[in-house]
Amino acid sequence: MLPIDQVINGDSLQVLAQIPDNVVDMCFADPPFNLGKKYGAYKDQRATEEYLAWCEQWLRELVRVTKPSGSIFVHNIPKWLTHYAGILNRIAHFRHWIAWDAMSAPLGKTLLPAHYGILFYSKQAKGTKFFEVRAPHKTCRECSAFLKDYGGKKDQMHPFGMLVSDVWTDIHRIRHNKRRDPHPCQLPIHLLERLILMTTDEGDLVLDPFLGTGTTAIAAKRLGRHYIGIEIDPLYAQIARDKLAHTQPTRYKGIPVSLFLGKIQSIRDCDAAKIFPPQLTKQQKRRQRAQAQLLLEALPNK
Ligand SMILES: C[S@@+](CC[C@H](N)C(=O)[O-])C[C@H]1O[C@@H](n2cnc3c(N)ncnc32)[C@H](O)[C@@H]1O
Repeated sequence: MLPIDQVINGDSLQVLAQIPDNVVDMCFADPPFNLGKKYGAYKDQRATEEYLAWCEQWLRELVRVTKPSGSIFVHNIPKWLTHYAGILNRIAHFRHWIAWDAMSAPLGKTLLPAHYGILFYSKQAKGTKFFEVRAPHKTCRECSAFLKDYGGKKDQMHPFGMLVSDVWTDIHRIRHNKRRDPHPCQLPIHLLERLILMTTDEGDLVLDPFLGTGTTAIAAKRLGRHYIGIEIDPLYAQIARDKLAHTQPTRYKGIPVSLFLGKIQSIRDCDAAKIFPPQLTKQQKRRQRAQAQLLLEALPNK
């Protein structure tokens, strides 16, 4: 039986080995970066060859457990993602390299690293479940005016927001200690919510083999998806379980959306169309006025 809606305290390779082929709709992995970070139960410093050989094992497992219609996402620094892509290109299908803009400290001598990458692969070339996602239009903080008017065609702008591209600058890392768990690299829930909205439906199954303190599982639960989370550190696993016990669905007008401070941060385009009917273009408005005029003129006893 699949351990659905469970946080499993264990080693990801051992747990993945017990999961059958083709059962998961979306996998997300945020492995240790091999940068010597201070985790509880895990030593984040291995020889490069050893680290990459280990990564190849779990990457292959993730592709194996994913359904033919499913997707695999992997978050890491570009250095390791180039190696992951070499492995994944042989066993899955490249979709996107998402650049998640997140400033870090200058290292000196090299360019300032200003993004993390998220590799997006699908298990098969065709038939992948994928939904376009919208984020709010960017506005000026002081006057709330739109920062882009799309070439003066404001009337053609979507009433909610723009389709997201492969560069994400609107989701910030967790900056305040009061919002963070005792974990060195907790991701923001809104990052995971966007990926889940992009590639799953309600009721689908999401798997994270390096769950940390539960971000992916919480995002999945908030959006009405099922999850399987694997985490080697018993303390992190317990924090995740405790948070999940208090996690409630986030919906707007009955539709699962990613909410941040009461505002929609991401919504599927198909759902946005139900809540925010498209604006009429100038041409459509002119046509509507002309039709109304014709109807008026056709009325007897004007
Ligand atoms: C980069 S962190 C993931 C953080 C997570 N995305 C979050 O938002 O909380 C990587 C996690 O993988 C865990 N880990 C390391 N080796 C593992 C293994 N073999 N099996 C399962 N978890 C492991 C670490 O304890 C750490 O919590």
